[in-house]
Parts: sequence; structure tokens; C-alpha cells
Amino acid sequence: MLNIRYEKTTAPKELPAADNPLKFGTIFTDHMFLMDYEEGKGWHDARIVPYGPISLEPSAMVFHYGQEMFEGLKAYKTEDGRTLLFRPNKNAERANNSNKRLCIPTIPEEDFAQAVKAMVKMDERWIPTKPGTSLYIRPFVIATDPFLGVRPSNRYLFAVILSPVGAYYPEGLNPVKIWIEDEYVRAIKGGIGEAKTGGNYVASLASQVKAHEEGYSQVLWLDGKERKYIEEVGAMNIFFKINGKVLTPELNGSILPGVTRDSVISLCKHWNVPVEERRISVEELYEAGKDGSLEEVFGTGTAAVISPVGHLRFEDHVLMVGDGGIGEFSQKIYDTITGIQLGKVEDTLGWTVE
Ligand code: COI
Repeated sequence: MLNIRYEKTTAPKELPAADNPLKFGTIFTDHMFLMDYEEGKGWHDARIVPYGPISLEPSAMVFHYGQEMFEGLKAYKTEDGRTLLFRPNKNAERANNSNKRLCIPTIPEEDFAQAVKAMVKMDERWIPTKPGTSLYIRPFVIATDPFLGVRPSNRYLFAVILSPVGAYYPEGLNPVKIWIEDEYVRAIKGGIGEAKTGGNYVASLASQVKAHEEGYSQVLWLDGKERKYIEEVGAMNIFFKINGKVLTPELNGSILPGVTRDSVISLCKHWNVPVEERRISVEELYEAGKDGSLEEVFGTGTAAVISPVGHLRFEDHVLMVGDGGIGEFSQKIYDTITGIQLGKVEDTLGWTVE
């Protein structure tokens, strides 16, 4: 158990106004959690201090070789005033899977959870309550050794910051237009695609810029080897409903194991809706589009929860999904997950933590 030192801010900020749309990731709360790591000493000096700039040497390894990992989860306020976290143990577990892949020392799962809970408790007044809003929690670790050689760092900083947020995509739950990327790839098997780390996100930027220039919101990533099989969409996992069956690409080493992805699969099993994790080719998708069996497409992630896809473009082919509105199943998944998160739908699978 961490012995957290507290230094409360003497200048608490004003909360965002009730009509503030809480553009994703733009507003930060009063405090931050910090903890250092040094070889020989391990993780130490856990503290919650006023939110503000951190001082690092320009030679800190994270700036040069990108040794860092991050997580994302959310806290919600229920109508009866309780504060709920959604499956925080999954994030603690995934953080360490990322850490192991990136040669970052692991953080005991109970310490990760304690840091998150202590921060949410400290800045609880920042949890927004308007529909579609929540308090986004961003834990991350960076390599801080002042050294320019390439090797794992000997020093790290673990931090947790909080941000009250509204919808991730400006479209909200309205279906987005997706460009199927045939030039760049996000990740390949054996690389770092299944770790949550900045490298995967910077790898996606050129394609995102290209897609935006063409009037598309995001890209659909194909596998890096054969460029045939579907992997992810934007920064999210992807699901298809074809002929009554729910399909998602199997975790193959280059796909991020999303918590929302896992929740959708678990809900399907709970509801006895057929669900398959397997390879899905673009060709299969187009065939399903042509013969009318492609019912719904949606991305899943913590930030947006569900993001329906209404239009896909591959080279010169355009595929329209459904009637352009949000599909019935996508809506049901969204309502169930957000309902559980807000304490409005019975949490039969035991996902929320008070
Ligand atoms: C999520 O869907 O939560 C993500 O991973 C997006 C995040 C990078 C903002």
C-alpha cells in the first residue's frame, strides 16, 4: 500500500461553466499524482500535488526514444451521488502488460488502483454530471533518465492527471466516415501495437491527416503483412454486425486489447448474441456490404465508448452501412455500457467500483 503525501492546492480553479461543452482533454483538475522510480530504490515518493508543469532535463530519455506508456479510464457520478470507476483492474493489468513490452518497471496493480482512487477522491468536485460527460483519468509513465544512449531508462515518473470531458468525437453518436488505409500501417505483429504507448499513436497521425483532407473522420487499419485483414479503427477497436453475428478482429499481437472491446464481447455472451473474434478481411466486409448482410459497424474505446461507422471507403469503392443512422445494436451497447457506468443499469457483470 502506498503512503501518499498530500500537498493541497492553495488556489483551487473555478469549475467549468454548466454550458461548457468540455472538449475532450482540454481542461485539467486541481491536482496530479506523481511517483518516482529509481533503480535500486523501486517506486517511491508517492504524492498528490497541485497540477502544474513538471521539470525534466532536455536529455530525459522519453523525449528521444519514446519510452512511455499511458492508460485511460473514466469516473462517473451517479444520480444518488456515488462515484463509480469502470473496470479499473483491467487498466491496471493492461498498464503492466504495456510496461513489460516497453521495458518499464511494473507497478503493483493495487498501487495503480490506489493512485487512481486517491486522485478521483481528491478532485471529486470536478466530475461532471451532464449526460455524455465524465471525468477522464490519464495515468502514464515516462522515462526520465538524462541519457542519450539507447537502453531502458533507470528512472521513471508515474503520473495520474484528470480531465472533465464530453464527447470524444464532435460527431458524438452520429455515424462517422472512415477511410480504409492502404498505404500506412499502424502496427505489425511483434511490434508494439498491443501496448498502449505513444509510438502507436504517432504512427497513425499521417494517415489521420490524409483522411481529414479527404473529408473522412478516421481510418480503418489493415494488417501490416498482407494488408487484407482489418485491425482497428482510428484509436479504437472495431466491431461488425453481419447476418445477426457480432464480429471483431481477434487479438493477434498488433491490436490493442481494449477494455470496451472486452466489455462488448462479454455483453454479447451474456445476452446470447453470437460473437466471434477472428480474422476479418476487407473482402468479406465488401461482400457483406454487397449482399446486404452488413448490418452495423462501430468502433469501441474508453474515450468515445461507441462510435458508429456509416460510410467506408477503400481505394475507389464506397460502402454505405445501414441507413446512415445509429444501428439498433450499437445503440443498445452504448445505452447498456453507459447505463452501467452511471449506475442506471444493473451491473450484473460486476464491472463498477465505488
Ligand atoms: C480511447 O478510445 O479511449 C483511446 O484510446 C483514445 C485516446 C488515445 C484518447
